[in-house]
Amino acid sequence: MSRCNDIRTDGLCKFFINTGDCPSGTNCRFTHPPLDQLKKVRTEWVKQRIKQRRLKQQRPEDPHNPSEKLKKNARSQVFADWVLSTFPEALNVVDVAGGKGLVGLIVEKASSKAQSQKSETESETLFPRVTATLIDPRPRDVSKQMRRVAPSSTEGIKLNAHLQEWFQDPPSETVDRLLKREKTVIIGLHPDQATEPIVDIGLARGIPWAVVPCCVFPELYPNRIWPGDGGGEVNSTEKLIDWLKAKNGDIKEAYLPFEGRNRVLYWTAETSTQSSL
Ligand SMILES: C[S@@+](CC[C@H](N)C(=O)[O-])C[C@H]1O[C@@H](n2cnc3c(N)ncnc32)[C@H](O)[C@@H]1O
Repeated sequence: MSRCNDIRTDGLCKFFINTGDCPSGTNCRFTHPPLDQLKKVRTEWVKQRIKQRRLKQQRPEDPHNPSEKLKKNARSQVFADWVLSTFPEALNVVDVAGGKGLVGLIVEKASSKAQSQKSETESETLFPRVTATLIDPRPRDVSKQMRRVAPSSTEGIKLNAHLQEWFQDPPSETVDRLLKREKTVIIGLHPDQATEPIVDIGLARGIPWAVVPCCVFPELYPNRIWPGDGGGEVNSTEKLIDWLKAKNGDIKEAYLPFEGRNRVLYWTAETSTQSSL
């Protein structure tokens, strides 16, 4: 039987906190809170552990206070706002691996709103100025958050365009046509296997892009060898970021104010002769 002395941390007995019991009983060196307070103590203990984990994960370059970061479910709003302010000239946002496509919906809504404010003074009705197309093979079910953002009429809610396919290099003919539109930006928030194709296609075609890398899938990409200290397999988000940054000296980075993977890499194509913005 495992002894609780081997498995707990801090002043509390982890075994007792989790199960309400402890194999060491009264011999345990650690604190067993009264059973009637167990739930409360466990809740606080979990909260503290999450806080400690966040502090540990925080990179020194990240300027956002870990206790003030927005929850993960705010990431689409934060990323969409950041995209609109970083690429103010964009007209064609290609939202790759966007899942349900909330980022694109927010982008279109924000640009429609900006247009309608403008139209009061300039009698214009151009809605939306920016169009966003989702590229993701997943079927799109409509979440509550999407309902709040998407325009609706008696016919139901109106979603932005969706190409239900994989984004890959080289792209399909349909995606190729989409990428050739004026003032295109390719974006990917936690875009999984689409991360590197976004970067490669953007750089090769002079199309600005932004990605927030997350999962790495080292088993799918055994040929990725990390160029940083010690080298080795690209098997973490940090190494994937180094791997991507090594592709072009003009790639910039920033940190977004939400919990979890929040490091955004982007390329504005300013130094490229093929710039589409
Ligand atoms: C972790 S989810 C992120 C979804 C969304 N961006 C978000 O932050 O909620 C990753 C998404 O990537 C999509 N995906 C993975 N590889 C892709 C590819 N090559 N092309 C398009 N979508 C891809 C998956 O279908 C999935 O919806």
